[in-house]
Amino acid sequence: MTEIIDSIKKIAIEISDAIKSKDTGKVESTNASGDIQVKLDVISDEIAEKYLLDTSSVKEIISEEKEKPITKESGKYFVAYDPLDGSSLIDVDLSVGSIFGIYENGYDGEDIKAAVYVVYGPRVEMVVARDVVELFRLNEKTNEFEFIKELKLEKKGKILGPGGTQKYWYPYHKEMIDNFFKEGYRLRYSGGMVPDLHQILLKGGGLFAYPGTEDKPKGKLRKLFEVFPFAYVYKKAGGFGVDGYNDLLTLKAEHYHDTTPCFFGSEYEINKVLQTYKGQK
Ligand code: AHG
Ligand code: MN
Ligand code: MN
Repeated sequence: MTEIIDSIKKIAIEISDAIKSKDTGKVESTNASGDIQVKLDVISDEIAEKYLLDTSSVKEIISEEKEKPITKESGKYFVAYDPLDGSSLIDVDLSVGSIFGIYENGYDGEDIKAAVYVVYGPRVEMVVARDVVELFRLNEKTNEFEFIKELKLEKKGKILGPGGTQKYWYPYHKEMIDNFFKEGYRLRYSGGMVPDLHQILLKGGGLFAYPGTEDKPKGKLRKLFEVFPFAYVYKKAGGFGVDGYNDLLTLKAEHYHDTTPCFFGSEYEINKVLQTYKGQK
């Protein structure tokens, strides 16, 4: 596992350099989810693939940008990753990220054994969730990630990141979001789940929601590359990840690119979500 985390550090440094120096234009292709790819999606995917395939404990890799996994002869872990999350924000210079889920035996929620994400913002930060959740920051002079602190969520936060097209929100979802605002919650939504979830985690709590909607009942965010890794991070930090009804980590993945509604947050907000969604299916 440490070997994989060391590889992810190298990947993060190289992707961070690519973000700063490479062309931000679009390519003439879409990925397996039908998203328009930017050149940096493809470059970041190649960087991650190169290091992960060269890591002896890695058995298989699959990414948001790949139709199917690449399997090796040996190794133990299955790594599913989103090489560049929030890539449509690159051209407006907002923070973006990379997300890695480290699985054993398969890609169901219960198979995830560790999760790592990287935030490329004014500073490069990496969060590693194993038994505990740890924050590291890149020292650009030494090119080393330095340990900063352990991260824990409070029982209740003050900020809210409500995703999905509001026009298509279910009425009960809209009412729940309105109620949070009436309680005094403040809006924090950039359109990049990595910085949005990082903010909630570092500020101690809150809610990030990417619900199912009338136009997209299964939401947008992908189980293997985005949802399961963050569900793992939040759980290990003392928070929760649910699909409205159940713990996200109890969900199965039928296809590599499956999506699910998802809510991440601290205890108070997630209880409100569960109460709201109860009986609505
Ligand atoms: P990606 O760039 O990997 O396709 O992911 C973007 C995701 C996620 O980061 C973000 O929370 C969500 O898409 C934003 O979606 P909306 O534009 O629908 O808000
Ligand atoms: Mn993504
Ligand atoms: Mn992506």
